[in-house]
Amino acid sequence: MTRPKVFLTRRLPDAGLAQILGACDADVWPDRLPPPPDALRERAAGCDGLVTLLTDRIDAALIAGCPKLKVVSQYAVGVNNIDVAACTARKVPVGNTPGVLTDATADIAVTLLLAAARCLGEGVADAKAGRWLTWEPTGWLGRDLIGRTLGVVGMGRIGFATASRLHHGWGMNVVYTSRSPKPEADGQLGARRVEFAELLAASDFVSVHADLNPTTQKLFGADQFAAMKRTAVFVNTARGPHVDQAALADALRRGVIFAAGLDVTDPEPLPPDHELYALPNCVIAPHVASATTDTRDAMARMAAANLLAGLRGDRLPDCVNPAVYG
Ligand code: DGY
Repeated sequence: MTRPKVFLTRRLPDAGLAQILGACDADVWPDRLPPPPDALRERAAGCDGLVTLLTDRIDAALIAGCPKLKVVSQYAVGVNNIDVAACTARKVPVGNTPGVLTDATADIAVTLLLAAARCLGEGVADAKAGRWLTWEPTGWLGRDLIGRTLGVVGMGRIGFATASRLHHGWGMNVVYTSRSPKPEADGQLGARRVEFAELLAASDFVSVHADLNPTTQKLFGADQFAAMKRTAVFVNTARGPHVDQAALADALRRGVIFAAGLDVTDPEPLPPDHELYALPNCVIAPHVASATTDTRDAMARMAAANLLAGLRGDRLPDCVNPAVYG
């Protein structure tokens, strides 16, 4: 019996890779960097299934060039790199890995929030560079969290987990924007759903958790930073293109807001000479929110389960375009 042919755009943790190698004729891209577009197109062309990462552009042309394609399994919860509509039109289900990375991502949102609020990026850099001259009464002064207001943009699983940590841990009041009311957040966190403008004006900390789509692209620009408190801390663990980075850099430089913590940027990686790195009040991490061993193993198992289900013609356990089954 011929085994299904699949292309993995990167080597996954063994927790999921072993299942794929056991069931498929798998071509695994061996490099640390993603396959360039030509290589991706060539390797994908004859495949029944693809395992993709957020760094791979899976567009309509690529899908059209894969006549046998039965499933795309994304090793991430976000799928903004995939033309899901084009997959749906071809009846190709797209899988993702929701849920298992919620806690790890919320932990990084809180980590960045604390690091930015307490000037840790600047303090650590100063200590290393010999600028820690003495204990200074007014050196590296940050912002307190206790009792302050957190604005959550996008109250999905990760927004909720972040708000929960900050409400229960630091007694923060929570306001949020969301497409629909979130009774769980209202009930368990005393959270209040508000208009975006009210969130910007009321929040001491703003944390972004919305998914990236045409309505959330560049959601944060000069006007939005100007509408925030001068003491506000901005955190983004969702996607870089939510933010106009030139406007953010300007706001940080001029003290329009206090500080920012970013796990995502646009582009990724952010070039080392980018102006945001030069700002002492901006803490930047290299998109590591889901980077714990357990989380990445769980993501690999989910990606394998989605891939293998799609190859068998079964419904994917986690499918972002269930319309393919309609
Ligand atoms: C995701 O899953 O979308 C994260 O950004 C990477 O884990």
